[in-house]
Amino acid sequence: MKQKTLAIIKPDAVEKSAIGEIIRRIEEAGFKILAMKYTRLTKSQAMAFYEVHKEKPFYNDLVKYMTSGPIVPIALEKENAVEDFRKLIGSTDPTKAEEGTIRKLFGTNIERNAIHGSDSAENGEREVLFFFSKSELVTTSETF
Ligand code: RTP
Ligand code: MG
Repeated sequence: MKQKTLAIIKPDAVEKSAIGEIIRRIEEAGFKILAMKYTRLTKSQAMAFYEVHKEKPFYNDLVKYMTSGPIVPIALEKENAVEDFRKLIGSTDPTKAEEGTIRKLFGTNIERNAIHGSDSAENGEREVLFFFSKSELVTTSETF
């Protein structure tokens, strides 16, 4: 079954000019790009996006990091997208991520880990709609 998942190229990866390399790997892995933008999060947007982590000790630092520079949110679609994308990006901590994963290649530490991927089909749908409207997500075969 086709699923949607949200990727975010995070500020550290944008800063190191890795946008192109990361998108190439995503496309090579068979993900279809439904929508994409280059933008910045306000503090309140970052707080809302990461609300599930608001009780975690890393929440404030995470919000600071995610608002520290531009990001590239990308709405993706594929069979089994959520699980396959988590495999492509690797473990949260880049130092523990498998060889060849995006976090291993471009991440720095457990916080500055280059990329986000939704963690369930339900969150994939919800997170894609956090950044993109429904009309931006229609595929080319449908009427815009
Ligand atoms: P993500 O949501 O970004 O795809 O990453 P994830 O599921 O692998 O990790 P999650 O537990 O959801 O954490 C969200 C983001 O918070 C930062 N983090 N910092 N300092 C820390 O111990 C710590 N732990 C997590 C990372 O940027 C992580 O991706
Ligand atoms: Mg997560």
